[in-house]
Amino acid sequence: MAQNSPRPRILVTGGAGFIGSHTAVALHESGYTPVLVDDLRNSRESVRTGVEKITGIEVELWTVDCGNAEAMAPVFHAPFAGAIHFAADKSVGDSTRDPERYFDNNIGGTARLLAQLRAQGVSNVVFSSSCTVYGEAEPSPVDETAPTLPAASPYGYTKQACERLLHDSHAAAEGNLGVAVLRYFNPIGAHPSAHIGELPLGTPTNLVPYLTQSVAGLRPPLTVFGDDYPTPDGTCIRDYLHVCDLAEAHVAALQWLEAHPGAIDTFNLGTGQGSSVLDVIHAFEEATGLRVPHKMGARRPGDITAIHADPSKAKRMLGWSTRRDLKTSLADAWRWQQQIQSKEG
Ligand code: NAD
Ligand code: WQD
Repeated sequence: MAQNSPRPRILVTGGAGFIGSHTAVALHESGYTPVLVDDLRNSRESVRTGVEKITGIEVELWTVDCGNAEAMAPVFHAPFAGAIHFAADKSVGDSTRDPERYFDNNIGGTARLLAQLRAQGVSNVVFSSSCTVYGEAEPSPVDETAPTLPAASPYGYTKQACERLLHDSHAAAEGNLGVAVLRYFNPIGAHPSAHIGELPLGTPTNLVPYLTQSVAGLRPPLTVFGDDYPTPDGTCIRDYLHVCDLAEAHVAALQWLEAHPGAIDTFNLGTGQGSSVLDVIHAFEEATGLRVPHKMGARRPGDITAIHADPSKAKRMLGWSTRRDLKTSLADAWRWQQQIQSKEG
């Protein structure tokens, strides 16, 4: 990006969220101006402060529903060079209890946002999808040609439906819309400054935030959900990538779209390594010198045995691959846990 050229504005829906806030930092570091839209249903205004502390700039945050075109109108006071759509409800368990809200926000909200982007002439969209679209994919590593199996949850279905919606919008735009669909594996960790991370809102269902809260003494010992799986140590295997690596992938995807106007493609974002639950526990203990209080428990319904990414397409086409290892991710997650506790007192 030329030094004195204006910094292109990028719309970041869900920009005060875990991945959106880290991506806002990565966008700034790559010469863009992130403009955050977040109705704070799963975040806090304080996240903007964290992003501002890291970037040293004032960050625009609009606390509105990105699917509400009337509320969004003022956000388009200046043109956008692209949009990254993180905004969604993301709890698998919640989605089985409240599918209507998930369908309305995740699918309806995406459709309403795409209509706005088309009306405003925004020509590049990066979308947050999930490896959950693969279901119990066999075998790992999983590449982008793996079949997307019937979704195991309303949440997973909303990701599959949004991917289809984006393909249809791309076709209808007849070359005027570029789309990058990013299928994340398991993002963990936090920015090394510990100014931003995964907010502890409610009881964590994900492994790493529960683990750090348990080590901090805020939760009972971690229950390992099943040690009788057909894996080397009996516990489930996932592909855990640092949230900062994931954030950088969004910038790479945006730059790929800028270089390939009107393109559409899908990319798996992971380390390419599988790690079991026990691997994560041991890596945390090695990284921090602290013990993880844990016990073996029953399997969690809906869990798949093992999945990890084949990230070679993102490497080949986006020039992206993960740079941070599991221990770094866990050390950064722990630093964030200590930081939020010091703030709460
Ligand atoms: P998050 O909940 O931290 O961030 C989502 C943000 O979107 C929240 O801050 C929430 O307040 C906001 N939001 C939700 N609906 C909105 C709306 N209608 N208008 C404006 N703001 C709205 O979640 P995250 O972990 O950062 O996930 C971001 C995206 O990545 C989601 O689409 C999620 O489905 C996807 N994803 C997450 C993971 C993961 O493990 N975290 C894995 C795969 C995919
Ligand atoms: C990881 C492993 C658990 C908690 C989920 C969503 C997925 C995506 C990422 C949004 C599993 C085990 C966990 C605990 C445990 N989210 N575990 N004890 O289930 O791979 O993916 O988050 O897109 O859609 O499904 O991640 O962190 O919940 O679990 O043993 O207290 O840790 O059984 O094997 P998961 P997770």
